[in-house]
Amino acid sequence: MNTPSKVAVVTGAGQGIGRAIALRLARDGFAIGSLDFNPDTAQQTVDLIAAADGAGLAVQVDVAEREQVLAAVDKVVEAFGRLDVLVNNAGIAPTTPLEDITPELYRKVFDVNVGSTYWGIQAAIRHFKARTPAHPGQVVGKIINASSQAGQVGNPDLAVYGATKFAIRGITQTAARDLAALGITVNAYCPGIVRTPMMEGIAKKVADANGESLEWGLQQWAKTVTLGRISEPEDVAGCVSYLAGPDSDYMTGQALIIDGGMVFN
Ligand SMILES: NC(=O)c1ccc[n+]([C@@H]2O[C@H](COP(=O)([O-])OP(=O)(O)OC[C@H]3O[C@@H](n4cnc5c(N)ncnc54)[C@H](O)[C@@H]3O)[C@@H](O)[C@H]2O)c1
Repeated sequence: MNTPSKVAVVTGAGQGIGRAIALRLARDGFAIGSLDFNPDTAQQTVDLIAAADGAGLAVQVDVAEREQVLAAVDKVVEAFGRLDVLVNNAGIAPTTPLEDITPELYRKVFDVNVGSTYWGIQAAIRHFKARTPAHPGQVVGKIINASSQAGQVGNPDLAVYGATKFAIRGITQTAARDLAALGITVNAYCPGIVRTPMMEGIAKKVADANGESLEWGLQQWAKTVTLGRISEPEDVAGCVSYLAGPDSDYMTGQALIIDGGMVFN
């Protein structure tokens, strides 16, 4: 295979926001490492990329496991010859009323959401270090992390999930400072209410409790969005496309809110 001119790894690329990001970055000209816990959906994303004349490689990974993340990113670099962008997108979002939080659940959500962010950053640094910036400010690699509107303000019943998303904003700011001299930028995106299997799971609980449909459950959130509709995954992918491309080269340590106007800072 010819070495593509640019390569992006996306975790959680098998569905939802991760798949939309993978398809969008493929359209932007990146070869895609499609990493997911579910090998079938990871491969389906690669098939969709291939159908649009792009290139991709599916790799199964549990992002909570450091060695697995390092090995998966290595595999993508072996296949495509380089790494330019790493998107730490995979995450889980159980609702956790305060009195129901257990040590097991707290550790699981932090391992998947926060641990994966450390391991993804470490995996990327190893490859980005191979390229030295020719002058201060030259960008040789980009790391992009999934935070959330729930990482900007507290949301009901999300004390664990929200804490992981606040943590990811903190890691993003620290990593931006630590890695700037290597020519690496680190930014995050903060979606609001996005129509994905994750959000549908949460909406279904609300809908069932009220004897209503899934769509009714989803639309309850539209009332809290200034633009009057919930988000599609492609809205978020557009934001990540900007963070992955050259137009954001002079941005680091930021967490862009792409939520239709739920949080104003
Ligand atoms: N959907 C929303 O409204 C929303 C809002 C704000 C932030 N986010 C964030 O965006 C990201 C993607 O969310 P989504 O809605 O697309 O979620 P989703 O549940 O629909 O998809 C997540 C994907 O990640 C994979 N995954 C989960 N755990 C994994 C693990 N341990 N190892 C490897 N892969 C794993 C799943 O298999 C799945 O393909 C998450 O970080 C989420 O917290 C989502």
